[in-house]
Amino acid sequence: MKDGEFFIEGPSIYGFIVKVLSVLEQESDIRKRLASLRAPFQELLENQSWLPEPYRQINPNSGMGGGIASWLLYQNSDRDLSLFSLVIPPQVTTPIHNHLAWGLVGLYQGEQEEEEFEVEQHDHLHPGEHVRMNRRFLRILKPGEFYELIPPYNDVHRVKTISAEPSISLHLLANDTGCVIRQKFDEASGRVDAFRSGWSNKPCLE
Ligand SMILES: [Fe+2]
Repeated sequence: MKDGEFFIEGPSIYGFIVKVLSVLEQESDIRKRLASLRAPFQELLENQSWLPEPYRQINPNSGMGGGIASWLLYQNSDRDLSLFSLVIPPQVTTPIHNHLAWGLVGLYQGEQEEEEFEVEQHDHLHPGEHVRMNRRFLRILKPGEFYELIPPYNDVHRVKTISAEPSISLHLLANDTGCVIRQKFDEASGRVDAFRSGWSNKPCLE
């Protein structure tokens, strides 16, 4: 495929990415894009055969901390589309964080608890500032279940693995999620800090 870089091979991921790229070419509205991508994403989540073992592993040198791995599986050449597996060890919780991109997030293995937060919106969130934030809801995610991210509405959350095995979630997001500067939030104080999660298998360009 001319556009982008695959980090793993196989007909399932090729077929999925071909579908995604054709939807993006044909449709510019984010909600319509997401609607067309739901069925192929569901199919990818329900197929246990295509994700190789190394991309299901935790990462002791995690940029997110706690052994959390972000394995890049595909990225387009403009770096505004990334498919990756996020592997979170048992009982480990991510910081409260945003993504700054629309996309789909679904569970592939294990079980997760997800808490979504409503955060006072600004054009720019500056490190060290404090924002008002409220917990919107908590839900349990099981394999095959997924949700849409449509910033700024539901872009801020915290995820915890509650299964005995690591959880693996698949993310299709419209940015270079591992390398963009994002924000994390302290629940008690509302303090904002900049963070970059990094990719576990690719350096970020400065
Ligand atoms: Fe997230």
